[in-house]
Amino acid sequence: MPFSMLQGDITTLKVDAIVNAANSSLLGGGGVDGAIHRAAGPALREYCAGLGGCRVGQAKGSPGFDLPAKWVIHTVGPIWQGGSQNEAALLAACYRNALALAAESGCSSVAFPLISAGAYGYPKDQALAIAKQEILAFLAKHEMDVTLVIYDKSSFQPSRSLISELTAYWERCSSAAPTFPREAGLAASVAVLSTPDTQETTNKKPCFSSHSRPSAKQAATCNGALGHADNLAEADNCRSSELEARLHSLDESFSQMLLRKIDEKGVSDAACYKRANVDRKLFSKIRSDPNYRPSKPTAIAFAVALELPLPEARELLMKAGFALSHSNKFDVIIEYFLSTGNYDIYQINEALFAFDQALLGAG
Ligand code: APR
Repeated sequence: MPFSMLQGDITTLKVDAIVNAANSSLLGGGGVDGAIHRAAGPALREYCAGLGGCRVGQAKGSPGFDLPAKWVIHTVGPIWQGGSQNEAALLAACYRNALALAAESGCSSVAFPLISAGAYGYPKDQALAIAKQEILAFLAKHEMDVTLVIYDKSSFQPSRSLISELTAYWERCSSAAPTFPREAGLAASVAVLSTPDTQETTNKKPCFSSHSRPSAKQAATCNGALGHADNLAEADNCRSSELEARLHSLDESFSQMLLRKIDEKGVSDAACYKRANVDRKLFSKIRSDPNYRPSKPTAIAFAVALELPLPEARELLMKAGFALSHSNKFDVIIEYFLSTGNYDIYQINEALFAFDQALLGAG
């Protein structure tokens, strides 16, 4: 996934490069700097001693040594002094220069901590906003998997107003009578299962659902005209040829509908998969396979990228075999954003991350 977030310890990630929130000596310290040096072993400090330090906003690289990551990109964030000492520009430069160095080194995956949001005291919500802004600006022009690692949830502060709106929406959904209560849903799904040809005329109960073979007696009863068992073979033939006809006349698949919607919206493939936070390789798989079955987060990511109104989004989801329900947080969060016309997939992902849900996008 081009841009993702995860909660954890950056030193454990097996990516091409992890970024270190270092100090200008590059000789180690506390926080993530200390953790990286401990995990990489003493060779890292020896190597860094030869780099001649690093200025705030700049980035320098080293091998990962004992870390699972191949490289470490050391950058020095600004110390927060109230916001009037060019801190925002310097912090943005940290991400920009670290990403540029990663791209020059041929990295395809990089993980960042929240630079300056610890000992250097940068307000966490502003640090998060700058990280997101610079990573997304880079991904608009480059292909790379970039992960923002949140070590402790307290340093992750999406907008409070958004969280309270979502919580209120969730309470409304879970307290209101479910739009499709289980028992009614069950009855409805049984009704859908028994297709017209298995139902006797005039409101009689269905003899059997369309996917169970009828007993001789049932078939004879249901198909009065046959009247005896040796026509069972004829009934079977008729049913299997009908099933064959149905299988041949399946309506459009998920990927066919997706490609049609992309054309209708007049967006390019690249614009669509980038807005969906899906990587190019996965998109070309979807484009070339009319029967491709996406995961639910991927299907929704495309509905968001195409800015589909809720009913159209539900239709696209249905093609992939999914629905949105009021019984789980992920679905309610998605419904909230689609129903309010907010198609910022990264804001949606921040909300999903805040509620420990899977993120939108793939690859
Ligand atoms: N994995 C991922 N993130 C981590 C880890 C870890 N193992 N340990 C800490 N963090 C997070 C913190 O929770 C914070 O959100 O990294 C972010 C940056 O915090 P610091 O490590 O304190 O870095 P910073 O605020 O940039 O201060 C840098 O602190 O450790 C010293 O030598 C370092 O002088 C430099 C200063």
